[in-house]
Amino acid sequence: MKEIVIKTQVTSCQQQELPVELYNLVEVAKQKTQDAYCPYSHYHVGAAALLADGQILTGANQENAAYPSGLCAERTTLFAANANNPHTPVDVLAIACYTDGHFTEDPASPCGACRQVMLETEHRFGKPMKVVLYGARECYVFESAKDLLPVCFTSENLE
Ligand code: THU
Repeated sequence: MKEIVIKTQVTSCQQQELPVELYNLVEVAKQKTQDAYCPYSHYHVGAAALLADGQILTGANQENAAYPSGLCAERTTLFAANANNPHTPVDVLAIACYTDGHFTEDPASPCGACRQVMLETEHRFGKPMKVVLYGARECYVFESAKDLLPVCFTSENLE
C-alpha cells in the first residue's frame, strides 16, 4: 500500500494583475451575474467563454420552481458556446459570483457537474481550456479544466 499526493497548480492574483484579455473576460462574467435568474437562491453567477476565434459567449444561472430543472451559469455558457460553435475550441472560461449586494471575496467555485462539463469541452477540442475564477480578494487561474477535477472520468474510461 502507498499514499500518493495529487497536486493542483493554480495562479492566485488580483483581477488587475491579469493579462488584459483575461481581465476583460472577467469583467464580462461579472456583468453577466446581473442577468442571473435566481429568485430562490439569490446567488448570482455569471460566466463568459472566450472562443479561439475571439468570440465571447456568456451565460448566467437559471433557476426553476422545480429546483433540479435549473442550470448553473457555467453550463448555460458552455452549452450555448458549443451548440452554436461546435468546431471552435473554448480557450478560456471566466466565472464570477454575486450575492448579498457584492461579489464574493473568495474565488468562484464551480460545482462538480460544471467541472465535468468543462472537462468534456476541453476533451472534445483536444486542447486545454483555461479557467479563471473571480474573487474580490483574489482570483484563481487554472491552466486546464482538468486541474479542477483530479481522478476524472472521461471518454478514455469508455474505451
Ligand atoms: N451555481 C452556478 O451557477 N454555478 C455553480 O458552479 C454553483 C452554483 C448556481 C446554481 C444555483 O442557481 C445557485 O448558484 C445556488 O446554488
